[in-house]
Formats: sequence, C-alpha cells, structure tokens
Amino acid sequence: KRIVLFASGSGSNVENIIRHFQHNDFVTVTAVLTNKSDAKVLERCKRLNISALYFNKNAFSAQGCLLDVLEGLQPDLIVLAGFLLKVPQNLIMNFPNKIINIHPALLPKYGGKGMYGSHVHQAVKDNKDTETGITIHYVNENYDEGAIIHQAKTAIAPQDTVADITRKVHELEFEHFPKVIEKLLASPNIA
Ligand code: GRF
Repeated sequence: KRIVLFASGSGSNVENIIRHFQHNDFVTVTAVLTNKSDAKVLERCKRLNISALYFNKNAFSAQGCLLDVLEGLQPDLIVLAGFLLKVPQNLIMNFPNKIINIHPALLPKYGGKGMYGSHVHQAVKDNKDTETGITIHYVNENYDEGAIIHQAKTAIAPQDTVADITRKVHELEFEHFPKVIEKLLASPNIA
C-alpha cells in the first residue's frame, strides 16, 4: 500500500510516520508534498531519503494540477500531517474516504479555520480545560468536520504552559497516528 503525506511545517509527524513504516514491506511512504518551500519538513525528507515535492497555493487550487501528480503516485491513503491549506473539492471527490487529517484537539472543540498549532493550545489553556487530545478524521469539504476515525486524550494541569500542552499533544500524535494509518490500510475499505 502507498501513502502520500502532506505537510506545511516542521514535519515531526511526517518523520515519525516515515520511521514507523521504514521496515514495513506492506506499506510505503511514496512522497511528501508541501505548500511551503522553506518548510523544515523538506530537510527531514532529504535526510530520510523520501521524495518531497513543493507546490504553491495556486497549483493546489487549480483544477487538475495536483490531481495529475497524485494520480501518478496512486496513493491508497493521503495523510495530512500539519497541513494548513483547505483541500479543494476536486481532490476530495477523486479520493473518496482516502484523505485523512490529524487535528491537535478533541473535535468538535477547537476546530475550523485559523485553529491550528499553538492557537489551539492557547485556546485550550485560556478556557482552563482539564483535558485535550487529538482527533484523526476523514477530510471533507469543511474544515475539521469529516467523520472521526480516532481520538485520544491527555490531562492538563492548571500550571501547564502552551509549550507543555503542545508537547503532550505531540506525544499522543506520535503514538497514535502511525497505528491508525496502519489499521486503515489493513482494512478492506481501502482498495
Ligand atoms: C500537529 O500538532 C498537527 O496536529 C497540527 O500541526 C502540528 C504539526 O506538527 N495540525 P509537525 O509539523 O508534525 O511537527
């Protein structure tokens, strides 16, 4: 089975997923696609010897442009790991139930446009929440609203800083995301 990863930033999840499947004969990370030409994820791909492809925002929203690339790569699953652009309708239609995303909170809480990275964790702290977590979900035409596949929680102490919350959420992401991907790829729903 083939996975294509999308990322816009540091790419620590991308690296974790690549490492998880490195010695797996059944699953291959075919490529990493990014919309940021200076994203740290590109350095990680170079180091890990995984092909990376940069596309700009216009190419992403242009009908057919990225579709050709993706059809060439033939992914069984497209995984958004810290990817910040909205996925256009034509990609969603061409890869039904094959695009998943990870969100660093317990959706439906803290979802929607502008809710990414430390914004989410700051909001969780401001609201004095006692727990947060991760949500892995299918991608549909609305931000963070596709069907939920998996959630995991972590407790927050009152003294936790935004950095502490970020670290706790990353730990959950590293533990759960590769396993959920592996499980999805093994399920009969994925062609
Ligand atoms: C992750 O917390 C992800 O859930 C969120 O952005 C962060 C990306 O981190 N959407 P990284 O680029 O994988 O290090």
